[in-house]
Amino acid sequence: MMRTPLVVGNWKMNGRLADARALANAVVEQTAGFAAVERAVCPPFVHLPAVSETLAGTDVGLGAQNCADTPPGAHTGEVAAEMLSDLGVGYVILGHSERRQFDHEEEAGIAARYAQALEQGLRPILCVGESLEVREAGATDRLVADQITGVLDRLGAQGLGDGVIAYEPIWAIGTGLTATADQAQAVHASIRALLARHIGQAADKVRIIYGGSMKAANAQALLAQPDVDGGLIGGASLKAEEFAAICAAAARG
Ligand code: PGA
Repeated sequence: MMRTPLVVGNWKMNGRLADARALANAVVEQTAGFAAVERAVCPPFVHLPAVSETLAGTDVGLGAQNCADTPPGAHTGEVAAEMLSDLGVGYVILGHSERRQFDHEEEAGIAARYAQALEQGLRPILCVGESLEVREAGATDRLVADQITGVLDRLGAQGLGDGVIAYEPIWAIGTGLTATADQAQAVHASIRALLARHIGQAADKVRIIYGGSMKAANAQALLAQPDVDGGLIGGASLKAEEFAAICAAAARG
């Protein structure tokens, strides 16, 4: 396969400190057989130092769930990309639908966060995806294109080539509803076509991963699709065995 599969655990706002350490350890142990799959976990900010220690010397990567839209300075409650980079963070989830919904994040601000992440050598995972309403109105591709264009406008084509895109239909997140393999593939293919219009052949190298109730039982069908290059896993990433089973499915492609 031309793209290395990428499976990322989004732990969201879950777990005590000891849980984070234990889960990180279990992920290292249980996914050790899947070195051909790039694996990473994204704990809450405050658990990053401990999980960074736990993951040191392993091939499981570390990610954060957001970063600030400016360099360090006067912005109470925010965390700058530079601080994440100091902790050994390699990835940063940006524009997650929960941030868009509950924290009113929008395209321009997300693009500014993306720029900060790139400047500090972090690999952004840009989340895009539609509500059920938008899907039923047949406007999914247009909305997803607008979300991606928000970053393109600010950073130019190169910026997108350096990131990962996560297609996460909002109606599938935490609901137990999953996009069918065909639904996911259709949107992933349209995202890749959009990228190709801007960055040409480099679009073939960009990982487009799926998120939204992905679990061991449905991962294989999704990951077998030609443009589904991995997963962004919420609920199922809190159980190491489930996460490892998804990595196994990604290894089989
Ligand atoms: P879920 O979350 O797997 O619990 O649906 C995915 C996500 O929000 O990244």
